[in-house]
Amino acid sequence: MTGTERVVLVTGAARGIGAATVAELLDTGHRVIAIDSCRGADSGLSYPLATREDLAAVARLDPARVEAIEADVADEASVRQAVAAGVDRFGRLDAVVAAAGVIAGGAPLWETPVEDLQTQWSVNALGVWHTAAACVPVLLAQPDPSDCRFVAVVSAAGSRGLFHLAAYNASKHAALGIIRGLAADLVGTGVTAVAVSPGSTDTAMLAATAGIYGLTDPAELAESQLIKRTIEPAEMAATIAFCCSPAGGVLNGSVVAADGGFSG
Ligand SMILES: NC(=O)c1ccc[n+]([C@@H]2O[C@H](COP(=O)([O-])OP(=O)(O)OC[C@H]3O[C@@H](n4cnc5c(N)ncnc54)[C@H](O)[C@@H]3O)[C@@H](O)[C@H]2O)c1
Repeated sequence: MTGTERVVLVTGAARGIGAATVAELLDTGHRVIAIDSCRGADSGLSYPLATREDLAAVARLDPARVEAIEADVADEASVRQAVAAGVDRFGRLDAVVAAAGVIAGGAPLWETPVEDLQTQWSVNALGVWHTAAACVPVLLAQPDPSDCRFVAVVSAAGSRGLFHLAAYNASKHAALGIIRGLAADLVGTGVTAVAVSPGSTDTAMLAATAGIYGLTDPAELAESQLIKRTIEPAEMAATIAFCCSPAGGVLNGSVVAADGGFSG
């Protein structure tokens, strides 16, 4: 390990796209601050979230280069503490991936309990906000912020209205708005901000989404993408890792549609 290895903070890091992103970043010589709420079965959703054991397994990929921290992105103080602890261990921060997210739905807006909106708003929108608010000042304080990146994992639901997912749509539109506003506020600093919009990617959330739609096979959701197959988390991670790189700075204030061609 050298003292100059880039450090990336990843939320939602215990499994799925977040965990694959940690693995990809480790493979490409980064150190990683891996954050997850580890709520497990106590998620309040129709599906369990990741567990402490999931996060521990990610840490075991390379204990010398992973700082795993249990924290809830919906809780501003929790995020600030986690960011401070991670930066304290590695002494720098070069990029951030806000991948933590939850989904709920299955009914039209007017039949959706407002609690569904509050839950998804608190993680998918406020979670990105809190992560940016805690991390961007650290990025700006780096010796050369021009190689620093902020990446949020959004969704086609951030740009379109997906059927029976009104609250998820609202929260992901907000996440995209946060990225657009952040990119505008960062002009002249060198730090850039971008949203990545995954297509149907083979994770627990995709299985939960299939459940919301009453589908038995999550692969059916891939019918709406031109490649006609689900995307592997590792494929999504490769795109996200590029967005974290110095070269990723050309992707600024925009949405990277990593969706195999979303056809609606
Ligand atoms: N899988 C897909 O097809 C798909 C498509 C579009 C967008 N996305 C987005 O990609 C991101 C990753 O989703 P995934 O498919 O890997 O799902 P996933 O459920 O496998 O992983 C999400 C992770 O976020 C964590 N998390 C949830 N709430 C949290 C909180 N409050 N604080 C900290 N961590 C929390 C979970 O424990 C879990 O480890 C999400 O933002 C999701 O909306 C996924």
